[in-house]
Amino acid sequence: MLSIAVWGGGSLGLLWAARLARIFPETVLLVRTEEQRDWIREKGIRLTDLAGKEERIPVHVRWIGEVGDEAFDCLLIMVKQRHLPGVAEALAAFSRLPALAVLWQNGLGQEEAFESLFPPGVLCGAVTTEGAYREGPGEVRHTGGGQTWIGPFASGAVRSEVAARFLAPLRDEGVRIEWESPIVRRIWEKVMVNCAINPLTALLRIRNGELLRSDEALSLMESVVEEAVSVARAEGVGLEADAVLKRVVEVCRRTAENRSSMLQDVERGQRTEIDWINGEVVRRGTRAGIETPVNRTLVRLIRLLEVRCSPDSGPTDGRLPSR
Ligand code: PAF
Repeated sequence: MLSIAVWGGGSLGLLWAARLARIFPETVLLVRTEEQRDWIREKGIRLTDLAGKEERIPVHVRWIGEVGDEAFDCLLIMVKQRHLPGVAEALAAFSRLPALAVLWQNGLGQEEAFESLFPPGVLCGAVTTEGAYREGPGEVRHTGGGQTWIGPFASGAVRSEVAARFLAPLRDEGVRIEWESPIVRRIWEKVMVNCAINPLTALLRIRNGELLRSDEALSLMESVVEEAVSVARAEGVGLEADAVLKRVVEVCRRTAENRSSMLQDVERGQRTEIDWINGEVVRRGTRAGIETPVNRTLVRLIRLLEVRCSPDSGPTDGRLPSR
């Protein structure tokens, strides 16, 4: 039997912990607060499926303050990018590291904090087109079916025996999940979609589908994608701007009623993932000598919005936060 942990009790963490607990009953969910732990321990996870049917699924749950020296075969890391250094620090204290560690964050650069911990092939990334919405501490709604890919960041790494034992039962249960080696191209494709949709929906406070109603929005998305494609190419990931833009439009259509994750962060007064999405395109563009003015402007506007929307944003001294 595989011992699996899901680190992070956000929307995807709850969805996957519930899904995995049905197949691997020893799955442990690691959450950030004692309140969330107590809620889930008492009531389980309440999952509302795509058809609107509710189910309560009991899950082993622990607060990360209780995590000591653990021995998991497989670890799904589903925290926001900004919490990754803390996870890497906790893992460094484990005497036995997982044989499969999967990073599920939006954006680029998530592997950097972990590269020195894991040999190539153990550290994987995940890309999913599934949607989920967290409705409460242990309540999650599956808002969109889709496909998930996991695979190593490193080229040439082979699939481990643990990865095969993790994937096969999921597929048997009808979960659409594939191994893709390396995962980098899928990550870039997803980043482009997020670069084009997320900041604009957050700035304009609109649902994804509304972006298709305006030529101005479409032309901004086109510029964002063209810049990002140039940067990806400089990194050896050959994508075509036209094909990527078509995909962005298709995602806007398919998720027309969704509030993007960045819009949700802004609405909750939380820090967004802009630095790891458009911000990474700008950073990598600078490294490769490629100008990315539209992405840069979106990063600045979102940072301004974060300062304005943060609940503890007192009067500022006029300087932008430096990141
Ligand atoms: O971040 C998000 O919200 C999603 O990745 C996407 C695809 C933009 C749909 O809302």
